[in-house]
Amino acid sequence: MPVLRSVRERFGAERSLEGVRVGACLHITAETATLMRALAAGGAEVALSAANPFSTQDDVAAALVGDGVVVRGVHGEGRSEYEAHLAALVAWGPQLALDDGADLVGGLHRAGVGDGLLGATEETTTGLVRLRAMERDGTLRCPVVAVNEAITERAFNDRYGTGQSALDGILRATHVLLAGRTVVVLGYGWTGRGIALRARGAGASVVVCEVDPFRALEARMEGFGVMPALDAAERGDVFVTVTGAPKVLTRQHFERMKDGALLANAGHFDVEIDLEALVELATGGVRDVRPLVQQHVLADGRRLNLLAGGRVVNLAAAEGHPPEVMDMSFALQALTVERLVREPRVLEPGVHAVPPETDREVARLKLASLGVEIDALTPEQQDYLHSWAP
Ligand SMILES: NC(=O)c1ccc[n+]([C@@H]2O[C@H](COP(=O)([O-])OP(=O)(O)OC[C@H]3O[C@@H](n4cnc5c(N)ncnc54)[C@H](O)[C@@H]3O)[C@@H](O)[C@H]2O)c1
Repeated sequence: MPVLRSVRERFGAERSLEGVRVGACLHITAETATLMRALAAGGAEVALSAANPFSTQDDVAAALVGDGVVVRGVHGEGRSEYEAHLAALVAWGPQLALDDGADLVGGLHRAGVGDGLLGATEETTTGLVRLRAMERDGTLRCPVVAVNEAITERAFNDRYGTGQSALDGILRATHVLLAGRTVVVLGYGWTGRGIALRARGAGASVVVCEVDPFRALEARMEGFGVMPALDAAERGDVFVTVTGAPKVLTRQHFERMKDGALLANAGHFDVEIDLEALVELATGGVRDVRPLVQQHVLADGRRLNLLAGGRVVNLAAAEGHPPEVMDMSFALQALTVERLVREPRVLEPGVHAVPPETDREVARLKLASLGVEIDALTPEQQDYLHSWAP
């Protein structure tokens, strides 16, 4: 994680987080540990609790404890343990909160200490939905920076990180050759764009299904086939839903699909493929043909293969985003924490975008880590571009 490493080196030299208590409710993974170490290098006191009972890597938790970070979380912990860990983190009195699902910010507000926070960051869409609801009803008492909506996060991480890892999940689960097959991508947001791009790179013919005319047009201009999902159902060999919407592939689509079709979902929840309808249609039976591949046999003998039970395929069948992706996300987190500390009480309570300078800084550090240099505007170009004079 070279971007975060460079942030950590600067933090270590400047110590601008000296004595600040940073509480984090994040997945306890090696990538998160790198973020915790960067914050500690800046002088922060850091405490971490698990955002999800199953993502905790116990060896990582132990290593962080050895570094002086207070860690609460154990792999497979139950609901009551999870809540007790979160309550202990709230009681510790963080001045800043790093959140993944808004449980920590919610807990701090329920404890009546939301006003005292310098701010928070949020890593997920789901968390932001909750925080914006708090903002709407006037209960959000601190600034929250929507890290997962930054450009480096959406345009790069979702497109290249999810794009690659979703295909990685499909390939690990099935071992198919994509070249020569038709891959149907349903949803052409940042993630769908990445999946379509990488599927084309692997030699597949790619069809995109969209409901938004701009995005559908963009897909067409990129050279992908664009058509309604019912038409695509007859052509596809591999289907990937990535819309965020429920029941994108339903009985009427399954009825038209070819024998051997693969069905995968890269959207957050397992609602995009109508699993109930698929099972109902499988009057010939459902059987496991490989780990994470369930074959549904239709009345006429056609076999539809569901991957990872319709759960998010890059996490369920592969390893989620590669560390290079989390590197940029967590560098955004670290730089946002620094800003909230350096400029306390500048942002009003509410949900805020990551400032463009921070986004640009992460892109600059990433380029540097790749050894890529770029030009800068000359003073004359600067003047020209910022002047209204003819
Ligand atoms: N697997 C991962 O690691 C990962 C990473 C990022 C996002 N996601 C998830 O992927 C999903 C999409 O994320 P995104 O950032 O690309 O969102 P997005 O909102 O940018 O794009 C979704 C696209 O789907 C389209 N769409 C909605 N309903 C549709 C339908 N019925 N048929 C066809 N198209 C439809 C929308 O018009 C939109 O263009 C979300 O559930 C998100 O949480 C997963």
